[in-house]
Amino acid sequence: VEKGLKDYYSSYFPIGVAVTPQQLKDSAQRRLILTHFNSLTAENAMKMGPIHPQEDRYEWTGADAIVNFAVANGLKVRGHNLCWHSQVPKWMFYDKAGNLVTKEVLLGRLKEHIKAVVGRYKGKIYAWDVVNEAVSDNPKEFLRNSLWYQICGEDFIAKAFEYAHEADPKAILFYNDYNTESPEKRQRIFKLLKKLIDAGVPVHAVGLQGHWSIKDPSKEMLGAAIQQYADLGIKVQVTELDVSIYTDGNIPENAGAEGASGFSPELQKLQANQYANFFQIFRQYKGSITGVTFWNLSDRYSWLDNFPVRGRKNYPLLFDKDLQPKAAYWNVVKF
Ligand code: XIL
Repeated sequence: VEKGLKDYYSSYFPIGVAVTPQQLKDSAQRRLILTHFNSLTAENAMKMGPIHPQEDRYEWTGADAIVNFAVANGLKVRGHNLCWHSQVPKWMFYDKAGNLVTKEVLLGRLKEHIKAVVGRYKGKIYAWDVVNEAVSDNPKEFLRNSLWYQICGEDFIAKAFEYAHEADPKAILFYNDYNTESPEKRQRIFKLLKKLIDAGVPVHAVGLQGHWSIKDPSKEMLGAAIQQYADLGIKVQVTELDVSIYTDGNIPENAGAEGASGFSPELQKLQANQYANFFQIFRQYKGSITGVTFWNLSDRYSWLDNFPVRGRKNYPLLFDKDLQPKAAYWNVVKF
C-alpha cells in the first residue's frame, strides 16, 4: 500500500480534506482521499442552507453520503458548520409576513436546527464548527454585523455552543474563523474566546481556517497566534488549509488586482516553500494542534477558482489537476 500524508503525520495529527458527495462517486478521487487522508469535512453539504432548506424539511442525502463513506472507511468527520452569516436558508430570519423574527423565535429555530443536525450524527462526527466567522474584520467593530447579531446581540454565540453541547456532550466544539493569525483581528477573536470560556460556555477549540497565500502569514505570526490561543487552554486545528498563488487577499473588496498568471515554476517554488514553513510550525506546535484539514482535494477544483474573483483559476493544493503530487506535497512529507 502506498504511503500517504496521513501516514507521515500519524504521530502528529489527523489530516483531513473537504469533499462533496459527488467526488466520492469518482473512483480516482476516492482512491486519492483514502491514500492520504483520515478525516473528512463536508465542503457545503452540512451547512444550514443546503441541509435545512425549509423550516420543516431537512435534506440529509449529501451529508449522509459523506458520513457513511467515512464510517465505512474508518475516517473521522468534522462537522461544518452550525451557525454562520452565509449560506443561511431564506426562511431562517423571517416570519410568514416577511418581517424579521424576534430574538426568542430565532434562538428557538437555531436550537431546533442544531439539535436535529448534531443529534443525527451523534457519535459519528467527533468535532463541530459551531460558530463560523462571527468576529468582524473591521478594527472599530467587535462582532460582525450579521442578522444573527442584529436580532440576538452577542447571545447567539454562547447559545449555539450550549445547544451543540446538549445535543452531543462528547463532541469537540469549535469557534472557526479566517485571518485568525493577523495580530489585529487575533485580539478580537481572543477576546471573544476568553469571554466565552470565562462564562463557562462549552467551547473547546479554535479553528484557524488557513486560507493563506504564498506571502502570508509569516512563520512567526502563525506560531504566535497558535501560542496565544493555546494559552487559553484550548486546542487548535487548521480547518480549511489552502495556499493561494495570488497575494491580493481573501476579502473581496481588496481582490482582483492580479490577473491570471498561470502556475509558473517560480510560483510552484514559492508555494512549496510556504507549505514547508506552515507544516514546520504545525509540527512544532504538535501538542496544541489536533488536526489539519485541506479545503479541497486537488487543483482540478478549488473554491478559490471563483473566490474572491469569479473564474480566476488558482492552484492552492498539494495535488495537481491530474491528482499527482506537486512540489508542495514533497515538501510537506519531507522532515
Ligand atoms: C465555501 C465553499 O468552498 C464554496 O463551495 C461555497 O460556495 C462557499 O463556501 N470559509 C468557510 C467555508 O468556512 O465554509 C467556505 O466554503 C470557505 C470560506
